Amino acid sequence: MHRDDGIEIRGVHREEIDAVAALLADRGEPADAVDLDLVADDPDEGLDTVLVAVDGGRVVSTATVLRETVRVDGVALPAAQVELVATEPSYEGRGLVRSLMTLAHDRSRARGDVVQVMIGIPFFYRQFGYVYSMRIPDTRPLRTVPDADPSVTIRVATAADIPAMARLEEHQQAAVTVSVPHSPACWRWLVARDGSQQWVAVREGEVVAAARATPPEEGLVLGEVAGERRAVETLLAHAHTVGGDDVRVMDRAGTPVHDIVDPLLEPMPLAEADANWYYARIERLAPVLELLRPVLGRRWVDAGGGEREVLISSFRSHVRFTLSDTGMGEVTAGGPLQAPVSAGGSGIPPDVLAPLVFGPHGALGLEALHPDVLLGRQRELMSVLFPPTSADLLTFYLPV
Ligand SMILES: CC(C)(COP(=O)(O)OP(=O)(O)OC[C@H]1O[C@@H](n2cnc3c(N)ncnc32)[C@H](O)[C@@H]1OP(=O)(O)O)[C@@H](O)C(=O)NCCC(=O)NCCS
Repeated sequence: MHRDDGIEIRGVHREEIDAVAALLADRGEPADAVDLDLVADDPDEGLDTVLVAVDGGRVVSTATVLRETVRVDGVALPAAQVELVATEPSYEGRGLVRSLMTLAHDRSRARGDVVQVMIGIPFFYRQFGYVYSMRIPDTRPLRTVPDADPSVTIRVATAADIPAMARLEEHQQAAVTVSVPHSPACWRWLVARDGSQQWVAVREGEVVAAARATPPEEGLVLGEVAGERRAVETLLAHAHTVGGDDVRVMDRAGTPVHDIVDPLLEPMPLAEADANWYYARIERLAPVLELLRPVLGRRWVDAGGGEREVLISSFRSHVRFTLSDTGMGEVTAGGPLQAPVSAGGSGIPPDVLAPLVFGPHGALGLEALHPDVLLGRQRELMSVLFPPTSADLLTFYLPV
């Protein structure tokens, strides 16, 4: 589409990829250009995922829409992640990223996504419907360097290690309620990119632990650590050998590896704990709840069940569904509904939907935080359907 100022907002053309890469490298890191090429050349993602703003034949802004999956208690929600966002300095502040985000969300919706997640600069993406929803794990300095297990060797992963690494991550994420795995395409980029390195710990030819390391010259951060105790400890010892005293490790709260890693790290200063959050965006609640019927129905039945008509209004729109001893019925969506509590329902404003479904506060915690979260007579029911949740997200960029 052409904006009123004549700037075209559309998918990239093959011959423009080098210009997009140059723009990203100029505004971000040289590694971003490598990442763009990996995405653009990938069979699952490809050129279609890269969006550009073009003025008189020149690429002046860009954003990339990746495919993701957000899982809630094992149910997969199709999702998008917007990454690799940049605008040429002389074109800043003209709403080019706003236009690109609109196209990104249109495309995401059209392919069936019901949620978007991202990591991004502070505040900016709140302007496009993103809400800080799930905690980013704390990254803490390595305090105690564990002994390496002599039967374990550490090496850089290759594409052949992807199934083993994915299995180890699955085991970690099985312990949390909300998880985002790496897509198959993302795994391919991770072993190919130079912005971070995948390490595996091998014992007797078997991959028994894995992690992702940022370049030591930037202060080595070890993220996405997964695996059995002695192998994880050997990975940490290796990180210390490579990175010296400047090694920090992401502590994945709620996952089994937390028990191994946590005691080896400096305590987090209270003021800095839980300071960072992933953004998530739910545009319409009905499709999300429709996909989550097996999860919400099970929560309801496990809590004792019973017949109930449920109403949740986001004030600008609302949803209704039934609960019974066998689960949750179909979700119907309607228009504005201003006084949900007097209608027997609950009010959840649009910018609290993602924290409600994916966040650590649960419906009751959110009611205490937001004056316009009104649970009404459905309070207990809402606390059953939307309890506080633990989350673990694997994203293209380490959130550090
Ligand atoms: C951040 C960046 C992508 C913004 O691009 P842009 O094209 O200037 O953004 P837009 O003009 O579409 O911004 C949308 C709105 O946010 C405002 N805005 C611009 N930069 C902002 C910022 N850093 N923080 C908050 N608001 C900002 C704009 O004024 C605009 O407001 P309006 O729609 O009410 O008029 C660009 O400054 C950039 O490339 N920065 C360096 C690389 C970077 O940080 N990338 C993001 C990585 S997540």
